[in-house]
Amino acid sequence: MAMQERIQELKAQVEAMKANNLDEIEALRIKYLSKKGEITSLFNEFREIPKEEKALFGQPLNQLRQLAEARINEFKEQLSALSAQAVVREDLTRTPDPIRLGARHPLSLVREEIIDIFSRIGFTVADGPEVEDDKHVFSLLNFAPEHPARDMQDTFFIEKEEGIQKPTDILLRTHTSSVQTRVMTTQKPPIRILCPGRVYRNEAISARAHCFFHQVEGLYIDKNVSFADLRQALLYFAKEMFGPETKIRLRPSYFPFTEPSAEMDISCDLCGGKGCAFCKGTGWVEILGCGMVDPNVLEACGIDSKVYTGYAFGMGVERIANLKYRVKDLRLFSENDVRFLNQFEGC
Ligand code: DAH
Repeated sequence: MAMQERIQELKAQVEAMKANNLDEIEALRIKYLSKKGEITSLFNEFREIPKEEKALFGQPLNQLRQLAEARINEFKEQLSALSAQAVVREDLTRTPDPIRLGARHPLSLVREEIIDIFSRIGFTVADGPEVEDDKHVFSLLNFAPEHPARDMQDTFFIEKEEGIQKPTDILLRTHTSSVQTRVMTTQKPPIRILCPGRVYRNEAISARAHCFFHQVEGLYIDKNVSFADLRQALLYFAKEMFGPETKIRLRPSYFPFTEPSAEMDISCDLCGGKGCAFCKGTGWVEILGCGMVDPNVLEACGIDSKVYTGYAFGMGVERIANLKYRVKDLRLFSENDVRFLNQFEGC
């Protein structure tokens, strides 16, 4: 094809060019303007033709190349204008969709609240193992080897010698009082600690019942600690946790590690103490066990019971959470059902 016609042909092609994206624009550039592109090849041929013809084709050839370059630049500009519009269409001032953070578990909320209340009167948190020895769970706490109080806290044994329980048996702790003995045997008074944690009991209440729950226990040992101090600390706790109108009462009870021992009830806040179905008509609900640390326990842990006295208390976190949030079925606490857990969002 003569040079003239080829220029015409390519000009028609360049005018009809279309491109919708960067890849297509680049393909056009390669097809016509790259080293081996069709327009560039025409230029190469142009160098070979006789001088007199050069005057004829020089200008149309240059125009063809400029046209191709201009069209390709135009495509690029159109494309970037389009993507700029796309960005503008995304309203950058719009509040983003919120990321749902989930809720804290009600037992964590209650545990933290108990810790917060007691930390304001000087208690700090102590921790200990869930797999414990008999010594720290029972022996040091004045549970005689065959005492029936051990039956109230039957547990799961990891290692057990034949016959009666021995201080060296390894088991899942039944209460966090084992953390109290760990602290009493390693630290000197004054001791003022809270022991939160999971505890285990071998109880077949129902086929679906869980064999663990959570406790927070407290221990205060110093010179001149009295039962009045215990009562006052627990009254303060009850009012902080359940409201300033809350009343408490202490009923005599028995624990091997405290003497005297008591159960503490709070006034039922559903009926204001008048008596309702929740408090079984009594006006009171039981929330914890407490007492003055038995001198035998202090001595067994290496603390001089003639110099020091102390009080201790222990409560179930599920029980407190149940009272606070009125959860009807305690199993909900361990079933991980988000329909239940989501209700604590923002608490
Ligand atoms: N350890 C007891 C239990 O698990 C609760 C308890 C009662 C703890 C009285 C104490 C206490 O420290 O003084 O049932």
